[in-house]
Amino acid sequence: MDYEHYMKKCIELARNGKTSPNPMVGCVVLDKDGREISSGFHRKCGENHAERDALLKIKNGEDFGGTLIVNLEPCSHWGKTPPCTDLIIERGIKRVVIGMKDVNPKVSGIEILKKAGIEVIDGVLKEECERLNEVFIKNMKEKKTFVALKTAVTLDGKIATAQGSSKWITSESARNEVKNIRKRYDAILTSSSTVIADNPSMEHEIKIVLDRELKTDFNSKIYKSGKVYVFCAKNSDDERCIKTPVKDGKLDLEFVFSKLYEMGIMSVLVESGGILNGSVLKFADKIYQFIAPKITGDNSCKSCYDFRKITDINESLKFEIASVENFSPDILLTCYPISEN
Ligand SMILES: NC(=O)c1ccc[n+]([C@@H]2O[C@H](COP(=O)([O-])OP(=O)(O)OC[C@H]3O[C@@H](n4cnc5c(N)ncnc54)[C@H](OP(=O)(O)O)[C@@H]3O)[C@@H](O)[C@H]2O)c1
Repeated sequence: MDYEHYMKKCIELARNGKTSPNPMVGCVVLDKDGREISSGFHRKCGENHAERDALLKIKNGEDFGGTLIVNLEPCSHWGKTPPCTDLIIERGIKRVVIGMKDVNPKVSGIEILKKAGIEVIDGVLKEECERLNEVFIKNMKEKKTFVALKTAVTLDGKIATAQGSSKWITSESARNEVKNIRKRYDAILTSSSTVIADNPSMEHEIKIVLDRELKTDFNSKIYKSGKVYVFCAKNSDDERCIKTPVKDGKLDLEFVFSKLYEMGIMSVLVESGGILNGSVLKFADKIYQFIAPKITGDNSCKSCYDFRKITDINESLKFEIASVENFSPDILLTCYPISEN
C-alpha cells in the first residue's frame, strides 16, 4: 500500500488549518479494501482534531477494519476535545499509519492503540511531517516562539539604496508569495527604521514594531489595521507599548521573543532591514530569502545582514537550503541554520 501518497495528502489537508498553538494535522481513512472513504483536518484550536473530523463524516461501520493515516500521533488525553484514540478504537480501525510521534509529553497514542490490538506503522514521511509542524515542535520542546526571517535581495545581497529606496526589488509574484508566507505566522515583526523608510501596511492580525525611542509616527500605515504592539525603552501610557530593557544600546531581543511567547504568539515572521535582520539571526529558526536577478553594484547600498566585521571567511554563519522555488524572474531559497553556527 502506498502510504506515502496518503501521507502527502494528510500534509496538504493539514495546511488548510489555522491551528496555532495546536499542530497542523490532516487525516485520510481507507476502508478494509484500501479504498479512500473519508478525509479531514484540524481547522482551529478547540475544534475537532483531524481524526475525529474524518471519522465523523463516515457512517459507523463503514470504516470497520479500515486504515487511518495521519501525520501526527493521535492524542490520547482529554484536552479541549476527547481523545482521538478512543474514537479510533471504537470505530474498529485495524491499522493506523503515523507520520511523526507527538512531542507533547501528554500524548501516548501509539502505545494505547497497540494495546488495543491495532497495527501501528510509524515514521512515514517523518521529515516532511516534522517540517510541517516545526513551529509546534519548537514551542513544545523549547517553550519558545518560532522565529522566521524574510528578506528580498539583489544578486549582490542588497535590500535598499543608501537613501532607503527599495520598492520594488522583487516581482509581483514573489511579493504575492510573501502574503502567503505571512499567513503561516501568528505575528509579523519589523523595525522603526523600516516603518519610517517604507511606511508599509504589512497586512496581518498581529504586528510588532521595535522602536526604542518611539520615533515612528503612530499615524503610519502599519498602525492602521490589526493589533499592533510596540516594544520600546520609554515609559508610555499608550496600551500598545511594551517597556523593554536595552542591551548594548539596542532593545533586548531575548526579552522581546520571550515576551511574545508569554503573549501566546507561537511564531513570528521578521521583515526588516539588515541591522535588525543581523541581530535576529542568532534567534532565527528559518530564513525565506527571495533573490531578484539584479545587481546594484553599489557598495554603499544596504546589505540584508549587517551586524559585524569578520576577517576569515570561515567565520560565516552556515545554512542548509531546504528548497528552491521559482517566482519568475525571482527565486525563493528556504534555509535553516546549521547547528555548528
Ligand atoms: N528588501 C527587503 O526585504 C527589506 C525589508 C525591510 C526593509 N527593507 C529596507 O531596509 C531599510 C532599513 O534597513 P536598516 O538596516 O537601516 O534598518 P532595520 O534593520 O530595518 O532596523 C534597524 C533598527 O531596528 C531597531 N532595533 C530594535 N532592536 C534592535 C536590535 N536588537 N538590533 C538591531 N536593531 C534593532 C533599531 O532602531 P531603534 O533604536 O529605533 O529601536 C535599529 O536602528 C529600509 O530602507 C527598507 O526599505 C528592505
